[in-house]
Amino acid sequence: MHNISRIFVLAVLLLGLVTTAQAGCAQQSEGEVIFGESCAECHSSAQSGRTPSVFSLSSLSPRAIVSALEDGVMQSEGATLSRDQRIMVAEALTSRTYSETTLPETAFCSEQSTQVFEAESVSWMGFGGNIEGTGFQPDDRAGLTVSEIPSLELLWAFAFPDASEVRTKPTIVGELALFGDQFGVVYAVDTNTGCVRWIFEADAGIRGAILVDTDDNGRPLAYFVDFRTNAYALDIDAGIVVWKERVGWHPESNNTGSPTLYGNRLFIPISSMEVVMGGDPSYECCTSSGAVAALDKRTGELLWYHRVIPGYPEEAGLNALGTQLWAPSGAPVWSSPTIDLSRGRVYVGTGENYTRPTTATSDAIIAIEMATGEIAWSFQGTESDAFTMACTGFLNRQNCPAPPGPDLDFGMAPILVTREDGRDILVVGQKSGMVWALNPDADGDVLWSTRVGKGSALGGIHWGMASDGHFAYAANADRDAVVVDVHPDQEAAPGLYALDLMTGEIVWSAPAPRDTCEERQGCYPANSAAPTVIPGAVFAGGLDGHIRAYSTSDGQMLWDFDTVQEFETSNGIRGKGGSIDGPGPVIANGLVFVNSGYGQFGQIPGNLLLVFGVPDN
Ligand code: HEC
Repeated sequence: MHNISRIFVLAVLLLGLVTTAQAGCAQQSEGEVIFGESCAECHSSAQSGRTPSVFSLSSLSPRAIVSALEDGVMQSEGATLSRDQRIMVAEALTSRTYSETTLPETAFCSEQSTQVFEAESVSWMGFGGNIEGTGFQPDDRAGLTVSEIPSLELLWAFAFPDASEVRTKPTIVGELALFGDQFGVVYAVDTNTGCVRWIFEADAGIRGAILVDTDDNGRPLAYFVDFRTNAYALDIDAGIVVWKERVGWHPESNNTGSPTLYGNRLFIPISSMEVVMGGDPSYECCTSSGAVAALDKRTGELLWYHRVIPGYPEEAGLNALGTQLWAPSGAPVWSSPTIDLSRGRVYVGTGENYTRPTTATSDAIIAIEMATGEIAWSFQGTESDAFTMACTGFLNRQNCPAPPGPDLDFGMAPILVTREDGRDILVVGQKSGMVWALNPDADGDVLWSTRVGKGSALGGIHWGMASDGHFAYAANADRDAVVVDVHPDQEAAPGLYALDLMTGEIVWSAPAPRDTCEERQGCYPANSAAPTVIPGAVFAGGLDGHIRAYSTSDGQMLWDFDTVQEFETSNGIRGKGGSIDGPGPVIANGLVFVNSGYGQFGQIPGNLLLVFGVPDN
């Protein structure tokens, strides 16, 4: 099979050469023609903000481009093309042959595992490592002390075949790490060596965490959600799907945040790609609403579905091309739900509206009753924010709501933490650059708020913070992607900030080093990924591809490792590091798991999960 396809590719290449030679060098390939007709309008002109340039598209893998066109951010653009055309445009953009690499035999473990699967041996699970979303790992689970950090070394590296971004959030159960990839493969990997125990292929890419527990009969199950919002319960031992349900109500519903598991319930955040589709002036923008679904984990049955914007949107005028617009819409839930057991509530953050009129629930923190799915209260960080990709500098701005909003989502899971005075607070950072402390006992009243940066569509607090009960550690991603400058007098101030939970005062800050980006394409000196904290040290990855550890007491740098390199990998697949973005590192059982590679937004692509530890520890 492989040989045949290789010969076929060779034949195509030769044919291509012949026809090019006959027709003269000016002849465009079919892939280039497709790009010119269907993609160039947005991707070729000088863009600002989120639209990747031709340069950054060319640095992706062909499979990543096809996947974006089939079940990712470009699915509506891809829908008008045949599979062959999608492959041709991907090959033309990258000058590389399309491939779907499978793992070699040697990637799999040679010996059977002796591990008995027990829910008690879970030492990290979910977006923030726990249902409160704190990103804090206590000593006994971390297995790593501050004094050992300078001795951390790379123990093994795992490469994701054909990938250009890594958003995995490994769940650690004893000696097993479970995580999904850009194309929907779920991996279970031995944490000692990186050998693969088993894989499972979902229908679309997986961005959230893989959750695990055992059922009443002790049978181990894994729960996860793919980008198309299909939720799965997988019997780990038998390798069979126990149930599978599509959760999102809108055809364009997506899952980007991690689900959260508590008791018999699986809480699933729902976003949508209408923010991208809205860039197309012939698209009837927009009819989706962000949502949270609660499923019975035993059967997949839907218990409730909380729409952030209740009811169906109404006609909201025509755009300049005469296309019907709809409102209210948007307020996607990008992030992972946080569980508050004492108050019986689920908290999520929402993003902007896509059309006007806007709602009070966009760019907001929403408290939902766990039992019923009804709203308890909401707190809005930014009012009247309506935005689609049409606002990012396209030639056609017809679907950009007037006036364009600044796109200041809450992208992170709210953190529920108990302070030193015994009071529970919710701390959450926003893309506006603000950190908010809300009172969960007083309908989200603001206890304090602190600005840590300028904020923008890709700035401010993008993916998250962590908290150890003393401080909140906020990663500020401020960079050059300001669509609407709401704080013109404010300087961009990327870096890591420690805030006192009692007062909101900035105790220390560690500006992102600038020198690492001098010679590096797609490099930004900024902290966008969520940090993770253990007693005494906070770990934060940079868009420059460095992973660093800082002392929690004064922000002094304890460790710095550059991941933008090629590494030998445990599975024999070629692996290169890139920007670190998305979820924070996972620290468990003496190991530090770090994602490297995030090719979106013009950042440095890569395909690695790197695992550090102190040798012979
Ligand atoms: C209407 C404007 C528009 C058109 C037309 C369009 N794109 Fe895009 N594309 C975007 C925007 C905006 C994004 C960024 C979305 C995001 O990440 O939020 C994007 C993202 C992408 C990505 C994801 C990049 C990454 O880093 O993961 C790929 C791949 C892509 N486009 C390829 C294409 C191809 C190929 C075509 C033509 C078949 C196309 N696009 C047509 C606007 C457009």
